[in-house]
Amino acid sequence: MASTKRIVLIVGGGIAAYKCLDLIRRLRERGYGVRAIMTRAAHEFVTPLSVGALTNERVFTELFDLDDEREIGHIRLARDADLIIVAPATADLIAKMATGQANDLATAVLLATDKPIVVAPAMNPRMWLHPATRRNVAQIVADGATLVGPGIGEMAERGEAGPGRLAETTELIAAIEQRLASAGDGSGTTHGKPLTGRHVLVTSGPTHEPVDPVRYIANRSSGKQGHEIAAAAQRLGARVTLITGPVAIEPPGGVRIVRVITADEMLNAVHAALPADIAVFAAAVADWRMAKLASGKIKKPSSGEPPTIKLAENQDILKSIGQLPLGRPQLVIGFAAETDNLLANAQKKLKSKGADWIVANDVSTVTGVMGGDTNTVHIVSGDGVSSWPRMSKAEVAEKLMHNAATAIAAGPNARQTAAE
Ligand SMILES: Cc1cc2nc3c(=O)[nH]c(=O)nc-3n(C[C@H](O)[C@H](O)[C@H](O)COP(=O)(O)O)c2cc1C
Repeated sequence: MASTKRIVLIVGGGIAAYKCLDLIRRLRERGYGVRAIMTRAAHEFVTPLSVGALTNERVFTELFDLDDEREIGHIRLARDADLIIVAPATADLIAKMATGQANDLATAVLLATDKPIVVAPAMNPRMWLHPATRRNVAQIVADGATLVGPGIGEMAERGEAGPGRLAETTELIAAIEQRLASAGDGSGTTHGKPLTGRHVLVTSGPTHEPVDPVRYIANRSSGKQGHEIAAAAQRLGARVTLITGPVAIEPPGGVRIVRVITADEMLNAVHAALPADIAVFAAAVADWRMAKLASGKIKKPSSGEPPTIKLAENQDILKSIGQLPLGRPQLVIGFAAETDNLLANAQKKLKSKGADWIVANDVSTVTGVMGGDTNTVHIVSGDGVSSWPRMSKAEVAEKLMHNAATAIAAGPNARQTAAE
């Protein structure tokens, strides 16, 4: 039995509402007490009878219905909970949260609570990607909600695919437990965890660009530096999404892992993982892919002449986030792996990609950075360059995430100056 903590589950009116039944079962198996609040729309998708049977409590819906002596008002529902999870969170519920509405029981409880809130969106990909939803999601995250998911994949509607699937039950429970753990003994203390309530997105490792069904173009990135950054952010209390190319190292515990192969898949995974407070682009993303992928294995020509490979440019992931007009992370950190003119190239990259900091490292063969356990980095920001001594990649990660936490705590205007 994991806990006797009390969870209030708010079920929104989306097609994924039925999945709340599995969530309730799994939470109760782990010893949590669960109280469910259903929006009116949620009743169209799942019956209060099923929900109540699994919570073993009555289900709450109405804001103005205190005649019944079993009824509990919204203030008490908010106060009695250790954590509130909204699953599925509809676009509508997220919009109401973002604007502080309280015109039904679910939204009144969400506004009246000072407890941690975990929000698990589920909706059609076009609803999720709509600028209004992007704004609303960014707002509720800025207000302190922890976002979990949505996942990418097929929708219930035929022919629809993309970001918008409710996160898996195991992910929801992991997010609940992480948020409860970071709230400590219930006093809400986040001492030593300055990234609590923040979402940190990290890319790591190489990408592989297929040439034909058996060959690919790759690079020597091991993923060690990116994985250490993800681990450091998690230790500082952040919810972390680690988007990794093919690597031979173990992923850090307690972070959400998204595995990708190509640069294009990494680009899509990064955008689907937004919003984030901090984004760190440590992956060595291929600049080019095959202009035309061979459908069969390329054979040796009888002439003996080697075939010519034509490449096309991949979209720049760092730039696509650094220059995002809406929903840009508060702090965008890129990496510059260079063999020549390290600082000049890093400074150029800072400007052209819209990054706040560039972590410049010399990846010439003699440095042993690629695949090695140490790194010598220079942090290039609008303020100038701060050169750090040679350290382990774990130490670089720790210092970088501490500085990032300080920078975002100081607000958007301070982010350029905290890279010392
Ligand atoms: C068949 C059907 C499926 C729906 N699925 C979703 C969904 O998955 N996500 C969502 O945000 N809205 C969905 N909606 C729209 C919501 O039900 C609608 O916005 C409603 O007002 C939400 O109410 P609530 O946020 O109070 O639960 C769906 C509507 C219908 C008719």
